[in-house]
Amino acid sequence: CGIVGYVGNNQALDVVMEGLRRLEYRGYDSAGVALLADGQVVTRKRAGKLANLEKELADNPTPPATAGMGHTRWATHGAPNDRNAHPHVSHVGSVAVVHNGIIENFAALRSELEANGIEMSSDTDTEVVAHMVEAEFDAVDPAIEGRLAEAVRRVCNRLEGAFTLVLTHAAAPHTVVGARRNSPLVAGIGEDEYFLASDVSAFISRTRRAIELGQDQVVELDRERGITVSDFSGGPAETQEYTIDWDASAAEKGGYDWFMLKEIAEQPAVVADTLRGRLTETGEIHLDEMRLSDDDLRDVGKIFIIACGTSYYAGMVAKYAIEHWTRIPVEVELASEFRYRDPVLDRSTLVIAISQSGETMDTLMALRHAKSQHARILAICNTIGSTIPRESDAVLYTRAGVEIAVASTKAFLTQIVACYLVALYLGQIRGTKWGDEVSAVVGQLQEMPAAVDKVLDTMEPVRELARTLAEADQILFLGRHVGFPVALEGALKLKELAYMHAEGFAAGELKHGPIALIGEGTPVVIVVPSPLGRDSLHGKVVSNIQEVRARGARTIVIAEEGDDKVVPYADHVIRVPRTPVLMAPLVTTVPLQVMACEIAAARGLDVDQPRNLAKSVTVE
Ligand code: G6P
Repeated sequence: CGIVGYVGNNQALDVVMEGLRRLEYRGYDSAGVALLADGQVVTRKRAGKLANLEKELADNPTPPATAGMGHTRWATHGAPNDRNAHPHVSHVGSVAVVHNGIIENFAALRSELEANGIEMSSDTDTEVVAHMVEAEFDAVDPAIEGRLAEAVRRVCNRLEGAFTLVLTHAAAPHTVVGARRNSPLVAGIGEDEYFLASDVSAFISRTRRAIELGQDQVVELDRERGITVSDFSGGPAETQEYTIDWDASAAEKGGYDWFMLKEIAEQPAVVADTLRGRLTETGEIHLDEMRLSDDDLRDVGKIFIIACGTSYYAGMVAKYAIEHWTRIPVEVELASEFRYRDPVLDRSTLVIAISQSGETMDTLMALRHAKSQHARILAICNTIGSTIPRESDAVLYTRAGVEIAVASTKAFLTQIVACYLVALYLGQIRGTKWGDEVSAVVGQLQEMPAAVDKVLDTMEPVRELARTLAEADQILFLGRHVGFPVALEGALKLKELAYMHAEGFAAGELKHGPIALIGEGTPVVIVVPSPLGRDSLHGKVVSNIQEVRARGARTIVIAEEGDDKVVPYADHVIRVPRTPVLMAPLVTTVPLQVMACEIAAARGLDVDQPRNLAKSVTVE
């Protein structure tokens, strides 16, 4: 979910709506605002995207107000309808609350409130907070400063689970209070105005001064008193102000129809940015943000990569490279499964947590488990100051810039590059015998931005082909070696964007079952490795193309320039530049991204905000 809070001299509704527009990528099942106007809490909310709320506000305008809050929801408890949309208001009507996360003990709290005669007006876990704060506010001495913050602290101490809360009370008309446990919240400091938001993009057009809130902290924004941060017991909390170093234009579409297209097009630049300053002319690797000592890294006997979604597939690609280059065994695990199977971890284990947002709850919880078992943690992350890097021993930032489209593209490429840098670094400091290969690989990486650029130049035929696939009921993706995770990512993109049945398979596994899915005309995309690559990988995949074609498949082959062996069996060939085997995912993924985007657009769907998804999922 996305959350915004505001106190200042401007119209709160304008500020809050602008913030919600920028946060809509975090969820769009419903949206709502609450404003403090003339000593009253006024709310407007609607199921569906922000546009529905905008229409409601046009039909039913709100009075002027200089304090307020807003919410854009990714549903967890209760259907995504008007009734369950945030903000939720207490029974008396004086408290409004918005919430991101899950209050795990809400059922018990709800029963307690119901036993006291309070009737619930939604199915959410959030509503209990509004009623509880209402009661606590009345119990706090009216003479004390920060009465609402005190009421919120008292309530937070009774909540279990993960939450970011933002609240107002009609009797505190120039105050907005936020609280944070396990869910993101940042505060912004403007000129006589203050902001709260799930991330800085919500207020970036108004200020660049921000404060990251810590775990179990309550923040009060007050027009007169400014920002006060305390811990849940009321003691002062230490905070650090920082300056946001990107600007609002980075979050605009820049002339593309979709953010996703813009982000696909940015890939050569962001791959170059992620490499910049980290490789020297002589092939040495420098990782400045690597806070683990070389001695720590020399001790590593085993690596786990934990991640979700697209980041998980980047981890799968990385496994091939890390094992090949460093000979350290690597396991890649879905973060949501990791801690439940009691993995074997100790001080010599390096856990690499990959996350674009740095806020994914599954990944965060897996990381905390690994930490409790004394493993060393390295985050590969795209969001500076987010929770996952803050809780890790070291971080290597991908420099993909803000990624707005829900389906990840540029972050994926930079995650692969960052993992490769880590692998090279490990190789370098551990003195593995492939010294010459390190400098060769460094050279190869440096050529990748140009190679990705070249792929982008040849995407028009892919778009045309994609439009002919828009009516298909399924598309299968095959790959071997690093082509396998690429096939999985291609299928994921299509599921996410086009709501089409799509599956990625290891090409060799196809004959053990999935081949039964293939009928006359079934589109099958095959990611073919370089014919110059190791062993007989290429030949095996060419055989797999023949096998599916013999069963009637329409074969769409992604192959290197100059690879003629695939031509007789391909209904369509998509060419990518010649690249060394381990670099291939950086080019072969790109046509799959473009294809999914185009198919979704041809089906009339919202490419940037597919149904049921959210960019950053902060619940487990
Ligand atoms: C969500 C997004 C996916 C993303 C995954 C992991 O499910 O919809 O696109 O790959 O989270 O996100 P992270 O921010 O941890 O990389």
